[in-house]
Order: sequence, then C-alpha cells, then structure tokens
Amino acid sequence: MNTIMSSRLKNLVLITIASAVLWGCGSADKTVNLTANQEQQVAARIAPAGHVSMAGQVVTMASAGAESARAGGDIYAVNCVACHSSGVAGAPKMGDVAAWSARLEQGLETVYTNAINGIRGMPMRGTCMDCSDDEVKAAVDHILEGSK
Ligand code: HEC
Repeated sequence: MNTIMSSRLKNLVLITIASAVLWGCGSADKTVNLTANQEQQVAARIAPAGHVSMAGQVVTMASAGAESARAGGDIYAVNCVACHSSGVAGAPKMGDVAAWSARLEQGLETVYTNAINGIRGMPMRGTCMDCSDDEVKAAVDHILEGSK
C-alpha cells in the first residue's frame, strides 16, 4: 500500500515537473520569438521617413520620400547656365544686377511663376522638366544670389 502510494506520488510529481518544464520552455521560446518580431515590426512602423541610420542600426524601412531636393546651384549648372550665362535670346544674365533688379520689380512670386511656367523665350522650368517647383525656385534663388 505504501509502495503503491509512493510510486503514484512519484509519477504525479514527475508528470507535474515534466509538464511544467515543457510548458515553461515552450512559452519561453514563444515569448522570445514574438518579442524579436514585434521589435522589428514596431521599429519599422515608428521609423521616421528619411531618418539617418547609425552604424550597426538595422534599417527595416525603405526611406520613401528621403530623396532630397537638388541644390539650386546644381540645377543652374545643368539646366540654366546655357542661356543665363551668355544671355541667349535676351535671357537676363546671371550677375547682371540691373537686369535682375528690373525683373524683381514685378515681385519675386511672379519671377518664380514665370520661371516655372515659362515666359516668351524662357522655356517652362528652364528645361528642367523633372524639377519640382521648389527646385526651380532654388535655381532662381541661385541666380538672384549671384546677381545682387
Ligand atoms: C533656352 C534658354 C533658357 C534656359 C535653358 C533657361 N532660361 Fe530662363 N530665361 C530665358 C529667357 C530668354 C528669358 C527672358 C524671357 C523674357 O522675359 O522675354 C528668361 C527669363 C528667366 C527669368 C525671369 C522671369 C521673369 O519673370 O522675368 C527667370 C527667373 C529665369 N529665366 C530662370 C531660369 C531658370 C531657373 C532656369 C533653369 C532651371 C532657366 N531660366 C533656364 C531663357 C532661358
């Protein structure tokens, strides 16, 4: 009687320990995996667009919108210099203070708009068809900066 009881008790204890260990390991594994996954997902969700990645940092998100605007000077050098350095077709030359201050009398916004839409011999966007409005304005600013 005593031996039967103690062997049943032993079995019960063993089963309890075994299931506790199995359950414990199983849930511990799940917790670790889930946390790693969640960390990545959360990082991807909260990562600001176009943020700067530090060395060793896992980049989980394509930086959509990170493409920055080109500098006015670069756009000028590619798209505007041909006409605005030589004065082709009556283009006001860069550095010609009198010519540009006369243009500015109509207001800076109008000068911007004319550069974006084109006017007479001035082609639309100064031929920079993939320039955003802000990039055309930056190129205008560059010309104006060099014509004061
Ligand atoms: C094919 C030659 C040509 C190119 C290329 C060109 N321009 Fe012009 N631009 C002109 C001419 C010609 C005028 C004068 C138009 C007029 O008033 O008759 C002019 C005028 C302008 C004006 C004065 C507008 C106003 O309101 O008086 C701005 C600003 C200007 N250009 C900016 C630019 C910028 C910025 C670029 C490059 C992104 C550029 N242009 C490229 C020919 C050009």
